[in-house]
Amino acid sequence: MNDDIFTHYTHAGVIANKILHQAAGMVREGVLIAEVVETAENAIIEEGAGIAFPLNISRNEAAAHDTARYEDDRTFAASDLVKVDLGVHVEGYIADTALTVDLGKNDLLVEASRAALDRAIAMVRPGVTVGEIGASIQEEIESRGYRPVANLTGHGLGRFLLHEKPTIPNIGIQGGPAIEEGMVFAIEPFATTGSGYVSESPRVEIFQQTSMKPVRLRAAKKVLNAIRSNNGLPFAKRMLPQNKVDLALSTLRRQQILHAYPVLHDVPGSLVSQAEHTLIVTEDGCVVTTA
Ligand code: CO
Repeated sequence: MNDDIFTHYTHAGVIANKILHQAAGMVREGVLIAEVVETAENAIIEEGAGIAFPLNISRNEAAAHDTARYEDDRTFAASDLVKVDLGVHVEGYIADTALTVDLGKNDLLVEASRAALDRAIAMVRPGVTVGEIGASIQEEIESRGYRPVANLTGHGLGRFLLHEKPTIPNIGIQGGPAIEEGMVFAIEPFATTGSGYVSESPRVEIFQQTSMKPVRLRAAKKVLNAIRSNNGLPFAKRMLPQNKVDLALSTLRRQQILHAYPVLHDVPGSLVSQAEHTLIVTEDGCVVTTA
């Protein structure tokens, strides 16, 4: 990796870390979710960086992919367990980082995903397999009496690319690819009181363009125009012109121009915590860009 790219990654990481903690500090009972989302996303732009994906705010059994809706009037409740997941890019080089804010009494659950993340990061060096990292995440979370979420994973990052190889599992798997110097990836353990598997909710707030094809429908053309500057990175429904937006989105999904990221949740009544950092693998360890 050349120095310029390294600098872009670390710059994005510093911005992401700062704004993530500012956003987390705003999460309190009665505060509008939309206010936290807007403040954080505006702060990214004010830093001269780009929004790598809409600020995810997922509560309680929701693990990921919720964000503010259009004219969202939802507020945080007294006992919410709130995952805040933020993505910043500089020249397309992404920092992806998350933490959990506990408005109830779930500090041990929050600590479980954070400890698993710390332990995973401490293992990262060339030659270690992703399966070994997953096994220690699983062991750390289970030793604390919770379950890791098996079907959510960490992921490699590329320029304007959010879900590259390698995949970093949150459970032990046999082998898997070995870590190599110069790899950039996010590790994101999720700990849950629920089943350890997330399912897709019918509600979708976040989408991503995955191919270019001509479309006829006027509202669909408007959507594609509105997201052109995203360079294929995810966007939120609330960011689009709202006239006929559901028709436009369903048309674009059917034509496989857009990929949908439904809200993901564990079983009703369960609680999920998350911690995430982005790192660059070095000769003998790693640099955490978002710390
Ligand atoms: Co991530």
